[in-house]
Amino acid sequence: MSSYDVAVLAGDGIGPEVTNEAFKVVDAAASAFGFSIKKSVLDLGTERWLKTGDIFPDADFNAVKDHQAIFLGAIGDPRAPVGLIEYGIIAKLRFDLDLYINLRPIKLYDERLCPLKGKGPKDIDMLIIRENTEDAYAGMHGFVHKGQPLEVATQTMVYTREGVERAIRYAFEACRARNGKKNVTLIDKANAVRAQDIWTRVFAEVATEYPDITTDHAYIDAACMWMVKNPEWFDVAVTPNLFGDIITDLGAMLQGGMGIAASGNLHPGQVSLFEPIHGSAPKHAGKNVASPVAGIMAGAMMLDFLGEKKASVAIESSVADLLRSGKLKGVGTADHVCSEGGDMVVEEVRAAVAKA
Ligand code: IPM
Ligand code: MG
Repeated sequence: MSSYDVAVLAGDGIGPEVTNEAFKVVDAAASAFGFSIKKSVLDLGTERWLKTGDIFPDADFNAVKDHQAIFLGAIGDPRAPVGLIEYGIIAKLRFDLDLYINLRPIKLYDERLCPLKGKGPKDIDMLIIRENTEDAYAGMHGFVHKGQPLEVATQTMVYTREGVERAIRYAFEACRARNGKKNVTLIDKANAVRAQDIWTRVFAEVATEYPDITTDHAYIDAACMWMVKNPEWFDVAVTPNLFGDIITDLGAMLQGGMGIAASGNLHPGQVSLFEPIHGSAPKHAGKNVASPVAGIMAGAMMLDFLGEKKASVAIESSVADLLRSGKLKGVGTADHVCSEGGDMVVEEVRAAVAKA
């Protein structure tokens, strides 16, 4: 029986609740499909920092590295200075484990969940590939004359040939592998951020190796418009880190909200991290009202990455069926609580396996 080692960082706010539901489902799928998940739970996040001053000690980081996958619930808490925990945990994992792809599928499962008029599941099914280690996130920033009238603040957008190329290549490969329109769109702002000319050039070069795939280009401002106006135009899109951060929140709304959207921070072939796109939502924490769907879908992405494709598909289709039938609301509502969401999906996965 295959067994996988997963590090679990439940994190802040609603993180622990949604992580709990995600693993109810992941564990149920594991026993239904005959594999097991060995979890190591790590206490990292704002609570620990408040208590001990530790953000991500080396011993914890080394322990995390030794797993096949990492699951992160959510981090961030207004009691900590802006960015301290985010950079200390999520950015550290992304940079120090070189998780260079942020894979963010945007798929609408039921028309009811979409805020756009007249758009349904056949119109919204795209994969956003967000470069995950460079750009304005590279951490190269500074201040001089801080607090003075002459203060200068800078933040450098960094693009390396290798970083750009591996993200673009991943996008073409993902496009080839998926059953879509066989189109990759480059989203950038090369008309204003001239350094992004490197994206234009590398994209054109890599595209020549994929004659079976058509290409498109949109500046980020226009891409925001097209995603709302004609989301059906998008199949796979690849974009620098910061634009990818922004446009995937927009994408999450198209598929029903932050309670649904999941992501994988990947280094293919190495330990990779899976998380819901949503934040820690401190005001909803501990009330059992958060939607567990994004966490559960992040669990499904993790199983796919670990090679348990059947289990991953079973979870995804169970969630899709429950959303379509309206039993699972998908958005945080008082209609059902977080823990019932996990139970529903577990039941659905078991029933599907029993029928097969
Ligand atoms: C995300 C988040 C993070 C980001 C924050 C928490 C630093 O918004 O994963 O999309 O900006 O990448
Ligand atoms: Mg974000």
